Amino acid sequence: MTPAHGSATAPFSTVIRSASHDRHTEAETSTFIGDLLGGRLGVAAYAGYTEQLWFVYRALEDAAAELAGDPVAGPFLRPELLRVAALERDLDHLLAPGWRDRAAALPETLGYAGRIAETARAWPAGYVAHHYTRYLGDLSGGQVVRGIAERTWGFARKGDGVRFYVFDAIGNPAAFKREYRSLLDALPADELEKQRVVEECRRAFAHNSAVFAALGREFPLTA
Ligand code: HEM
Repeated sequence: MTPAHGSATAPFSTVIRSASHDRHTEAETSTFIGDLLGGRLGVAAYAGYTEQLWFVYRALEDAAAELAGDPVAGPFLRPELLRVAALERDLDHLLAPGWRDRAAALPETLGYAGRIAETARAWPAGYVAHHYTRYLGDLSGGQVVRGIAERTWGFARKGDGVRFYVFDAIGNPAAFKREYRSLLDALPADELEKQRVVEECRRAFAHNSAVFAALGREFPLTA
C-alpha cells in the first residue's frame, strides 16, 4: 500500500509492454531475424517469411466480423490496421503467379494461427493479446524492417514487397499508438484476467519465435 508499490496501479499498456519485453528481445534477436535483417539471406527467405505472415493475419482478420460487436475486443478492431490485402499484394510481387495454391503454413505457423482462431472463438481478451502483439509491433518495429527490406532487396519505397509495413490509412502513427494504449488501459477486465492477457501476449511472442526458428531451419545461411 506504499507508493513503492506503484506498479500495481501502472496502466495496463505499460504492464503488458514491460511484461513482454524479454520475449520481444528474444524474438528480435532470433537467428533468422538477425540473418534476414543483417542482409545475409536472399529475397526467398523474406518471401517465405511474408507467406507465413499471410496465414497469421488471415486468422487475425477472419475473426474481425464476429468480434466487431464484442465489448472487449470490438474497440480494437480498426479497419486502418487490416493487413491481409497488403500482404496479398506483396506476395503477388514476391512469389510466382498461382502462389495461393502452393502456399503452405509451417507447422509452427499453424500452431500460431490456430491459437489466434481459438481465442477469437472463445476468449476475446485473449484475442486482444494477439492483436496487440502483432499490430502494435508492426506500427513500431515494422518500420525498421521496411527500411531494411527496401535497401536489401531493392523494393520501391513503400511499394510492392513492403506494403505490409505501410499503414496508408494511419496519418499519425504516434497518435494512433497512444489511442491504442488508452484502449488497453481501459480494458474491461479485472486484475486476474489482465494477468491472463499478459500471459497470452507472452505466448504470442513465443509463437513468433517458434515460427522464426522454423524459418531459420528452412532458410539456413549457406556459408
Ligand atoms: C523483426 C525485428 C523487430 C524489430 C527490429 C522490432 C523493433 C521494435 C521497436 C523499435 C519497437 C518500438 C519500441 C519503443 O516504442 O520503445 C517495437 C515495439 C514493439 N514490437 Fe517489435 N521489433 C521486432 C520484432 C517484433 C516481433 C516479432 C514482435 C511480435 C510479433 C514485436 C512486437 C512488438 C510490440 C507489441 C511492440 C510495441 C510495444 C509497446 O509499445 O507496447 N516486435 N519493436
